[in-house]
Amino acid sequence: MSKPKVLITRNIFPEAIEAIKEVAEIDLWTDEMPPTREVLIEKSKGIDGILCLLTDKIDGEFMDNAGPQLKVISQIAVGYNNIDIGAATKRNIPVGYTPDVLTHATADFAFTLLMSAARLIIPGHTAAHDGSWKTWHPLHFLGQDIYGSKLGIVGMGRIGFEMAKRSTGFDMDILYYDVDRREDLEKELEMAHVSMDELLKDSDFVSIHVDLNPTTTHMFSDKQFKQMKSSSVVINAARGPVIDHMALYRALKNKEIAAAGLDVTEPEPIPDNHPLLSLDNCLIVPHIASATFATRRAMSNLAATNLINGLLGKSLSTCVNPEVDIKKI
Ligand code: GLV
Repeated sequence: MSKPKVLITRNIFPEAIEAIKEVAEIDLWTDEMPPTREVLIEKSKGIDGILCLLTDKIDGEFMDNAGPQLKVISQIAVGYNNIDIGAATKRNIPVGYTPDVLTHATADFAFTLLMSAARLIIPGHTAAHDGSWKTWHPLHFLGQDIYGSKLGIVGMGRIGFEMAKRSTGFDMDILYYDVDRREDLEKELEMAHVSMDELLKDSDFVSIHVDLNPTTTHMFSDKQFKQMKSSSVVINAARGPVIDHMALYRALKNKEIAAAGLDVTEPEPIPDNHPLLSLDNCLIVPHIASATFATRRAMSNLAATNLINGLLGKSLSTCVNPEVDIKKI
């Protein structure tokens, strides 16, 4: 019997590829850049499974073009806003994703952004390198205190909670906003569930950990930045479109808030003429919060396991739409 066919849209860790090879015939896209829409559509015809990335748009058209034999979509990311989950569910296709394995690396990184933006690490590094550091000066490179400050977490999921845990080492007070109050987590950690208005008004740091959906798109715009303290710092390691970037630009430029640390932007990459890039109080890095060797290896392996399980008709280890993931063998 011939092996099922799978498309893997970017290079992942070799052991994950090897594991998939045991059960499937692989078409591996090895370019650094993503396949174009046309190429993705063309390559997907007749596949039984796909291992995809957040840069690949996987919608109903893609699924229909692939054909009715498409058994599984396995995303190597915890976020899956690039996939039309409703369309997959309608077609009985389970969608895998990679939660948990990246929680610590992502929370570590969000905290790194918080500290770096608060304490002007990038402007300081630049000054040390370009000769503009002339002397120690009592009024140069002044940032925000982290110890004993108030951290407002927007979205108390796995990563938000780990961010909260990290802040306890700095004796920070924790506020959080989430549509669901997490009394279970409040038993583990002292933190107050507050309204979004209160969180914005009271926090010294606002760290965003929501998924991207219609209600969180541009959840941060002019109104929200105006509610924040002028000394506050906003961190986004979730999804770029949660922040209206021109509103953020205005807020940073007009000193309505002190600084921002962004792992994610809208769009990605951020265009090189984007006004945010002209500001030295806006730290931007290229969507790398989960980028450690161990975490990306674990993500590769989990995405491979989900793909293989889907091909073999077994339950996925981590499935976005478990209602269609009832097993067939
Ligand atoms: C990365 O952003 C992810 O969703 O895993």
